[in-house]
Amino acid sequence: MTPEGIERLIRPDVVNFGGYRAAKSPDTLVGKVEVPIESIIKLDANENLYGCSPRVNQALANYLSLNIYPDSRQTQLRELIQEYSGISAEYIMAGSGSSQLIDLILCLFVGPGDEVISCPPTFAMYQFYTQLRGGTLVEVPRSEDFAINVNGVKAAIGKKTKIIFVANPNNPTGTTTPWQDILELVNTGLPVLVDEAYYEFSGETVAPLASQYQNLMVLRTFSKWAGLAGLRIGYGIFPPQIAEYLLRIKPPYNVNAAAVVAVKESLKDIDYLLDRVKAIVAERERLFGELQKLKWLKPFPSQTNFIFCSVLVGKASELQQKLQKRGILVRYFDLPFWENGIRISVGKPEHTDALIKALQEIGGEINVG
Ligand SMILES: Cc1ncc(COP(=O)(O)O)c(C=O)c1O
Repeated sequence: MTPEGIERLIRPDVVNFGGYRAAKSPDTLVGKVEVPIESIIKLDANENLYGCSPRVNQALANYLSLNIYPDSRQTQLRELIQEYSGISAEYIMAGSGSSQLIDLILCLFVGPGDEVISCPPTFAMYQFYTQLRGGTLVEVPRSEDFAINVNGVKAAIGKKTKIIFVANPNNPTGTTTPWQDILELVNTGLPVLVDEAYYEFSGETVAPLASQYQNLMVLRTFSKWAGLAGLRIGYGIFPPQIAEYLLRIKPPYNVNAAAVVAVKESLKDIDYLLDRVKAIVAERERLFGELQKLKWLKPFPSQTNFIFCSVLVGKASELQQKLQKRGILVRYFDLPFWENGIRISVGKPEHTDALIKALQEIGGEINVG
């Protein structure tokens, strides 16, 4: 069969599907940056530049059961997360990254023709998975200061609406939504997914309310605060009935054995990891102050491990390229609702220093320094 012939058999919506613009792996940048690949400073995917707990590396080096499938009901893992979150294990279900749980939740609620409400600018994976599941994304833009338009969301609810997504704090803006607003959405009776991927940096959560509502779901991840992005491990807090359905529809061994070991060791080293979170939060405030001094960028206050900036002079895409050449990776946005912005992950103090120096040089080149 010719490729064209095969393509005719692929779902038409997938043929037209744009995919996700994922962060670049440094290995793919050989020849495109002016520094050795090992010196690249990766501030483009909100990873934890302090790495994971050293206990995780040690335990994985000594782990002898990689030949055995992990427990499909995640019994030990859910108990560990119960201990960490203070939420009973029957409410918990884990995924290969919290991203996989977004897909499983959509798989549970959304079929072709159903609608999903989202508030851009926000995490692009809501759109990605909604489209792949055949749903329609109904976008209710945030206000200029990135607050959710609660009345707008309520007005957008129709007969086909199946779920409302709220990232809190939000990516890429770093801003939070007051819990009263979230409750107003929950009180519509529709399933509401509150994505708390950055909870450890913000300290704000609606998880304790999960036991009071049949329609409130909360997502969390070990990617950011625990530095385990590469192992793909996240979890959700769901009404037990929904958790049971999710356990039924998930791929049987969706969380790998190494990730389970990593969670166990991370939780044994919780003080170490939360100290790193504190260091990142302190560094975020220093970075914010430094960015504010550059008059051609407008940083927004953040409750996460990254800072969103509007680029006031020049194009965000060009700024991203200039930083990349110097070996500093950031994310740029040029889509409706998030035009001409960059998002910078917070690293260690030396990463802030290198970034600010590069931005000052670039500012000098474009005569705005
Ligand atoms: C708001 C939000 N939710 C979920 C995720 C996904 O995290 P993971 O799949 O690594 O758990 C991210 C990652 O950047 C995010 O920003």
